[in-house]
Amino acid sequence: MHLGMHRCIVVFVVSTTGDGDPPDTAQKFVRKIKNKSLPHNHFFHLHYALLALGDTNYANFCNGGKTIDSRLQQLGAKHFYATGHADDGTGLEVVVDPWIEGLWDALKKTFSSMATSDQQDTDLSDCTQDNFHKNASGQEKNKSDLEVDLHLLKLSETDSQKGKAITSDSIDVETLSTVLAASLKQSVPPLSESALNVPALPASYLEVCLEQVSTEGETVPSDKDSYHEVSISKAVQLTQDDAVKTAISLELDISEQNLAYQPGDAFDILCPNRASEVKELLLRLDLQTQKNGAVQVNLLKNSSKKAAKIPLHIPQNGSLQFILTWCLEIRSAPKKAFVRALADFTQNSSEKRRLLELCSKDGSADYNSFVRDANVCLLDLLRAFPSCLPPLSLLFEHLPKLQPRAYSAASSSLQHPGKVNFVFNVVEFPARPEHPARTGLCTGWLAGHVSSILRPLGTVPASEQSGLILVHVRPRPSSTFHLPADPSVPVVMVGPGTGVAPFIGFLQQREKEREANQEATFGEMWLFFGCRHKDKDFLFREELERFAHNGTLSNLIVCFSRDEPDAAGTVNRPTYVQHNLSLHAKNVASILLKDKGSLYVCGDAKNMAKDVNDTLLEIIGNELQIDKLDAMKTVAGLREEKRYLQDIWS
Ligand code: 2AM
Repeated sequence: MHLGMHRCIVVFVVSTTGDGDPPDTAQKFVRKIKNKSLPHNHFFHLHYALLALGDTNYANFCNGGKTIDSRLQQLGAKHFYATGHADDGTGLEVVVDPWIEGLWDALKKTFSSMATSDQQDTDLSDCTQDNFHKNASGQEKNKSDLEVDLHLLKLSETDSQKGKAITSDSIDVETLSTVLAASLKQSVPPLSESALNVPALPASYLEVCLEQVSTEGETVPSDKDSYHEVSISKAVQLTQDDAVKTAISLELDISEQNLAYQPGDAFDILCPNRASEVKELLLRLDLQTQKNGAVQVNLLKNSSKKAAKIPLHIPQNGSLQFILTWCLEIRSAPKKAFVRALADFTQNSSEKRRLLELCSKDGSADYNSFVRDANVCLLDLLRAFPSCLPPLSLLFEHLPKLQPRAYSAASSSLQHPGKVNFVFNVVEFPARPEHPARTGLCTGWLAGHVSSILRPLGTVPASEQSGLILVHVRPRPSSTFHLPADPSVPVVMVGPGTGVAPFIGFLQQREKEREANQEATFGEMWLFFGCRHKDKDFLFREELERFAHNGTLSNLIVCFSRDEPDAAGTVNRPTYVQHNLSLHAKNVASILLKDKGSLYVCGDAKNMAKDVNDTLLEIIGNELQIDKLDAMKTVAGLREEKRYLQDIWS
């Protein structure tokens, strides 16, 4: 991106991903602004506001935004409005809503002060759609003709969901963009519409025509080209039936598509919304009729003029059934802005009052417990508020784009050519007053999808059934979570539960490398694994014991959190991985500090990864005899050197 020499106003919205990195969509921009040869006044003409998005459950909160913010400052750019740091851990809207509210005044003030300042400096029209290139004519406009163009830079993406079907760093930026665009239209005239670099106008501008049509030929969303249809060749239940959670491993046959991956990479899986929920939603919204037992669906039809106003992820000629199945996240917890909008379409006054209460400034705790933490979705709200009947356009405006779910590869193609494995727990949401018991969207769908070929661990499939069950996937390579390039570097891996997945890939790879090159020097590999019961949910037990037996794993250290102490009645036995890390503190410290090894952590972000991080601080503090602050600096250094890597989710 080239930011020209004339004064510009820019609004940045930046999410955070990975180890506190800006999202992929921002990488190119970040590389450019980090260029050391840029003069310190490079952005002296830039006036900007920045909304950083993050999650305090992860290390390096909002670091994507902070990185860009501090570099822009170094290069002479000026804030026209204070940076917002929104926390998905407590609810993004707590910061996002007031930040957006205050943005308009700040923009108005900035525009007007620019308009009245020296006109030579205020040819804002130079900040045109084609990435801030200079006004081609080179002519300056009269003050009265001054057109103010504003760029809303979307340096965010809705992160796809990991295993447990809960987003990290997620914000519906499309919606945010449309809200920003709409509000700007209302409050900052004159604004050239063409300059609004946003994908769509708010759905309240939409005119939706409904027609009855057939749905033949509609199978997957329009961006299906980036996905590959592959068959599930094996499905194995890794846990005993009496385990609290059910873990399933899937093997996909990717040989025909020739998909390459490294252990540590993930794959996106595209999964549809439940047919029963789509049907209930259509019926509830009076958008579907039942005639002669046949389901009638409606087509969304647009003239080309209107088509420009449909959000990009909604196909213009799809049936409603298709759109609600493949394009919109109907299970997501409605954001406060959606709840507020739903209140407008609620007849009953006490229902309306309750909805308004939920999205009010003082209602945050109430909203969190009733909506967010209860995993309440639109359908649940519509059930709880029977007099609410929103128009379709409201759904298009507020329901986020359906995201694929990412699963870490639990295999190495060296050991399984043409195949990739995943492992996941079937997520279960118990029944609550607000909704019936249900499974996680993708994990529940996968479990149902493979039920005919699912078999218990250690049994042989009854018959060759591969090729029958298909799924849409696309590789999602990791930029950092890989084994060190030098195999002599030692590694410590921490992966309780399904967090062990990428390490199975690492170990399979290393096992093959050792077989192929017996002369080479290989660094130690330590694995800290944990589960509840030795006999119920010790995932990959046989394979891990093989790795330990044949020397691939130097140390396999396992703890069981819910097993009774054995006959010896060990007091204070380690129950969690971090307890074992402490017990092996000397070795862990030596690998990281002396041998320049790497630490990998995979699994639950909310509790495990935080506790492991605290333990690491203790280990390093004790080893180096330094206080907590210095230990934190040392750990930050490890992160910086990409020797402390996390693949975690909440
Ligand atoms: P629990 O379910 O008995 O609490 C895999 O999920 C393993 O991680 C389980 O044994 C689980 O124990 C454990 N676990 C839960 N919370 C943890 C934490 N904060 N740190 C480390 N492990 C944890």
